[in-house]
Amino acid sequence: MTTKTIGIILNGATGRICSTQHVANALAPIRDEGGLPDGTDRIMPRLMLAGRNAEKLAAIAKNTGAEWTTDLDKALADPAYTVFFDAAATSQRQGALEKAIAAGKHIYSEKPVALLVDKGLELLRAMNAKGLKHGAVEDKLGLPGLQKLSRLAAANYFGRMTGFRLEFGWWVFDGTEVACQRPSWNYRKKDGGGLILDMYPHWRYVIENTLGPMRRVISAMSTATPERIDERGAHYSVDVDDSASTLIELESGAVGTILASWATRVRRDDLLTFQIDGTAGSAVAGLHRCWTSTSAQTPRTAHFSIATDLNVDYRANWHEITDSGPFKNPYRIGWENFLRHVATGAPMQADFSAGIRDVQFAEACYRSVKDGAWVSMDHGLPARGA
Ligand SMILES: NC(=O)c1ccc[n+]([C@@H]2O[C@H](COP(=O)([O-])OP(=O)(O)OC[C@H]3O[C@@H](n4cnc5c(N)ncnc54)[C@H](O)[C@@H]3O)[C@@H](O)[C@H]2O)c1
Repeated sequence: MTTKTIGIILNGATGRICSTQHVANALAPIRDEGGLPDGTDRIMPRLMLAGRNAEKLAAIAKNTGAEWTTDLDKALADPAYTVFFDAAATSQRQGALEKAIAAGKHIYSEKPVALLVDKGLELLRAMNAKGLKHGAVEDKLGLPGLQKLSRLAAANYFGRMTGFRLEFGWWVFDGTEVACQRPSWNYRKKDGGGLILDMYPHWRYVIENTLGPMRRVISAMSTATPERIDERGAHYSVDVDDSASTLIELESGAVGTILASWATRVRRDDLLTFQIDGTAGSAVAGLHRCWTSTSAQTPRTAHFSIATDLNVDYRANWHEITDSGPFKNPYRIGWENFLRHVATGAPMQADFSAGIRDVQFAEACYRSVKDGAWVSMDHGLPARGA
């Protein structure tokens, strides 16, 4: 047995998503279990946490057995680290990835991988010119609820798909009476904020990988909460969307919707729900659970009454899929795929091209708002892995 060590620089390591999901729940466990099995060999991640705040970095490094640095350039110059992962603030991503590519590192990136499709394509071309491997974080398909739903789609449970509906969001406090529960950069354009840019990349791969390619999209968006209070208690103006609604027409002809908002109160099955309807049956998934209702279980609704509540329990015809897993942490699934891709050339479905397609969806939605028109999703992006 040989152990292949892969040195990884984790940029933005003190951030919420990097310190929790990527380091504590994915990479540190892989390392502590003796590395990722690869045939008779093991792939061992070696972690270098990079960021600006030495104190915070040292604390995370201590808890997770990692090394740390505030000197990103020095880490990039070290040949012991062959992978660069970026999970720092979205607005800094382009510059960070350009530097890492120039240093010859393989690239794994949080979403959105770029602010614009053209900028993402520049990065992709630079990576390809250097023969670097690349991947994008596309974690949501690993959620247990969405895994159950995509298995139904793959098994042709739905028959001919007639439509879909994805609903997401909850109330994000503005900071006046209750502290805001999301970082303030999410609400500033210059920092890469905006609900569509931040969240729609996820819905692109969730929808296309489950239901097939999108043909065209049209969106409306608004700023429900125009003023917020930031982490330091200062008032600031929100200059991005915090609510958005989108119609999506798939290549198959089916039409679906996304309703997403940071200004809604949850009265659905979960914070995220994704319902697919088809001639043979429907299913709706939350983050963890998934319910189905077949054609045979569908009530023959014929009328409603304006005088009395018919007192029908519409949920009674839905049945939960019982599958207790085990389900792996979705971020760990991404890392396992990427580490195998780097170590052995195993295929990487969520490569940088996929990440750019995620950005393309957000960009198309913004363009449709600006133009007040449908926008095609056929952009001629380079083929996967090209
Ligand atoms: N895949 C997912 O589900 C998911 C979830 C949350 C966030 N994200 C992505 O991860 C990234 C970070 O999000 P987060 O919620 O962890 O944010 P965060 O605010 O908690 O962390 C951001 C990190 O970037 C660093 N940073 C901020 N400004 C910087 C600058 N000017 N220069 C260098 N570093 C800077 C911060 O110190 C911090 O380490 C974003 O791109 C976001 O889109 C992805």
